[in-house]
Amino acid sequence: MNDISIAVRAVGLRRSLAILAAGVMGTIAAALSAAETSPEKFENYTERIPGQSSTVAFDMVAIPGGEISIGSPAGEAGREETDLAQAKVAVKPFWMGKCEVKWEEFLPFVFASREEIEKNKEDGITHPTKPYGSIYRQRGEKGYPAMGMSQHNAAEYCKWLSKKTGHKYRLPTEAEWEYACRAGATTAYFWGDDPAMAGEYAWFKDNSEETTQPIGKKKPNKFGLYDVVGNVTEWVSKENADAAAVARGGGWSEPVTRLRSASRMIETEEWNELDPQSPPSIWWLSAADWVGLRLVRSFESGEAAPAATSTAAAAAAPAAPATDAVKANYKRYCAGCHGIDGKGQTKLGKSKGAKDYTDPKVKAGFDEARWIKAVREGVEVDGQHVMTGYEEKLTEAEMKALVYFMKAL
Ligand code: HEC
Repeated sequence: MNDISIAVRAVGLRRSLAILAAGVMGTIAAALSAAETSPEKFENYTERIPGQSSTVAFDMVAIPGGEISIGSPAGEAGREETDLAQAKVAVKPFWMGKCEVKWEEFLPFVFASREEIEKNKEDGITHPTKPYGSIYRQRGEKGYPAMGMSQHNAAEYCKWLSKKTGHKYRLPTEAEWEYACRAGATTAYFWGDDPAMAGEYAWFKDNSEETTQPIGKKKPNKFGLYDVVGNVTEWVSKENADAAAVARGGGWSEPVTRLRSASRMIETEEWNELDPQSPPSIWWLSAADWVGLRLVRSFESGEAAPAATSTAAAAAAPAAPATDAVKANYKRYCAGCHGIDGKGQTKLGKSKGAKDYTDPKVKAGFDEARWIKAVREGVEVDGQHVMTGYEEKLTEAEMKALVYFMKAL
């Protein structure tokens, strides 16, 4: 070891001692951990799918973490061999779809443009083949749950949606699903032990008229989840690649006992027995027009919820330099409405004008997450939606550079 390094170490030591003595250490640690844990709020939110009309949205419900027994006791009426044996599981907080994924949300994934499909390939996202015959299979369309997709298809949908929205969506684990379904209940059904009450909460064999029904029409469970049992059986994630594909919650064609919180349906070849193709499609299950999905998103993923404002993240993020490329993008994509000098619109007419971005008050309202969201998804002006829709043309980094450019105007 040479003299210089000893000197440096000595200074380092003296400095940390000084900090300790001043009692600053705790404060620094607190500040660091505050910056590390996301400032986002754990609350319900609505997500819009970028690039679609503003009605293509879904609600996510914040589900607090906790511990619960899943599976059914040996004596439970209607118990099946496929039920899990009772076990205690701990579940971390997560968001879950308030409703089952509906067709409006699923179709843009199935019928994505060739261009988008090619682009997504690079990110390892694949899109389903077009279904054989009508995708709806003579069942409900708008406002009805998407159904008939394989578990693989459902899982790929989550990847696609995650890329679109910037929030990591996935299928629930079995534990999360059952935890969310039970909402604290230890009874056979989430509403109690009485199967005669099923009609208040679920669409199933006795009341579905042998088809899917519009989502969200029955009473929710205690977490505020609709159709968590009945309507379509919901895919859960596989524990490993070799595990069987499992769906939970029973569907419109099932007897009431399949609405039990512990009930599980395990995929068999019969789910695809009507497929004329050989080998059968990996995307669509020809005979399972009663299986669909519900989304989940982990809470600790560290990304901001769409509604949350992340001032800490905005303060920490570096301002992008206004390179010629940034200026050219601004001129091309933004100046039409925001004005080349950032002082407001040129196209929309005064009452619907964009703000003056050289105004300090506008700058003071800067929030990186919200501004990028405005560019990605459009903004509400006088109750109308101005779609910018640049998410297809600009990368996340380019959008970020543009909002920092506007802030600096
Ligand atoms: C079709 C017109 C139009 C285009 C094109 C457009 N905007 Fe906007 N933008 C608006 C309007 C209108 C508003 C709402 C009023 C406001 O906040 O200025 C707005 C708002 C914003 C906001 C503020 C969001 C907030 O919460 O305060 C940002 C940031 C923004 N636009 C950035 C951009 C960027 C970057 C581009 C180019 C990629 C762009 N806009 C292109 C019309 C447009």
